[in-house]
Amino acid sequence: MTGVKRVLAVGYSQTGQLTQLLNSVLGPLQAAEGIEVTTVPLTPLKEEPFPWPFWYFFDTFPESVHLDPRPIDESVLPEGDFDLVIFAYQVWFLSPSMPATAFLKSARGRRLLAGKPVVTLIGCRNMWLMAQETMKRELEAIGARLVDNIVLTDSAHSAFTFVSTPAWMLTGNRGPFLGGLIPAAGISADDIAQAERFGRAIAQQLPTRSPDDDSPMCTGLGAVKINERLIASERFAHRSFRLWGALLRRLGRPGAPQRRIVLGLYVVFLVTMILTVIPISAVIKRLIAPFTRERVMRQRAYFAAPSGESAELKD
Ligand SMILES: Cc1cc2nc3c(=O)[nH]c(=O)nc-3n(C[C@H](O)[C@H](O)[C@H](O)COP(=O)(O)O)c2cc1C
Repeated sequence: MTGVKRVLAVGYSQTGQLTQLLNSVLGPLQAAEGIEVTTVPLTPLKEEPFPWPFWYFFDTFPESVHLDPRPIDESVLPEGDFDLVIFAYQVWFLSPSMPATAFLKSARGRRLLAGKPVVTLIGCRNMWLMAQETMKRELEAIGARLVDNIVLTDSAHSAFTFVSTPAWMLTGNRGPFLGGLIPAAGISADDIAQAERFGRAIAQQLPTRSPDDDSPMCTGLGAVKINERLIASERFAHRSFRLWGALLRRLGRPGAPQRRIVLGLYVVFLVTMILTVIPISAVIKRLIAPFTRERVMRQRAYFAAPSGESAELKD
């Protein structure tokens, strides 16, 4: 196939982190001859507050996990036809963020995605497995074809980011905290700069790719890294979010007083669970690791698809 390949890049970013990541990936595509990039920022109709007010932050979880997002401005979404969609999204409560979900649910978004090869690009703290499961299901229902998934996360230890990410979201202060004991929240500038390699790989292959090719373009580049210790915790937490989210939605709209009382109880329960269940399950997992090796390897391969964890071709 000859002719210009048209790439649509969509995404939302509150702090600018995901925009920087997307721009790093898009750089080589914008520089490539024969590729035309259209970038469309997803824009919530009502701007999300930053930093997040405490209650508003937690009260966002029921609708996030039940994929009932606050709306975006659909009029900014283009009408045209694209050869590839790069869909950048962040995770909110183990689900695609509300603006990303609003794109998936919008008539124009669905039309842009239907039948197209899609590269998902995630920038989040470190828990993205369940969100991507949701994304895969939604893309499949639309008829979109996921060809690559690229994920960048905060490289600090989970115990640190458990403090630094909410601190960043709720105060706007990115850190470092406690005199440098807890590193600054977010994806490192170096990791963002190196994400250019994905753009290079796509720019190299896209011009000569057949339109019905579903094979990944970013294998061998370390596109994802699976933290196997988080698999069970994510499953458990996602189930808990779905259950409690359904209950809270039955109690009223976001902000309803009776909903807030139960939400307060749930936040206490949730923090207690995270501080107990996650470390305990991590210890148990380490103890039984020799017996579960094969199953865990299968799970890793499943969650790492389609781009995979391997980085053997990295330059
Ligand atoms: C409401 C909310 C919920 C979040 N939940 C998660 C989560 O479940 N897992 C995760 O890894 N990161 C989570 N994050 C962090 C985001 O994925 C993301 O890293 C952060 O919001 C910065 O993104 P942005 O500034 O580019 O929008 C959450 C952030 C917000 C605001």
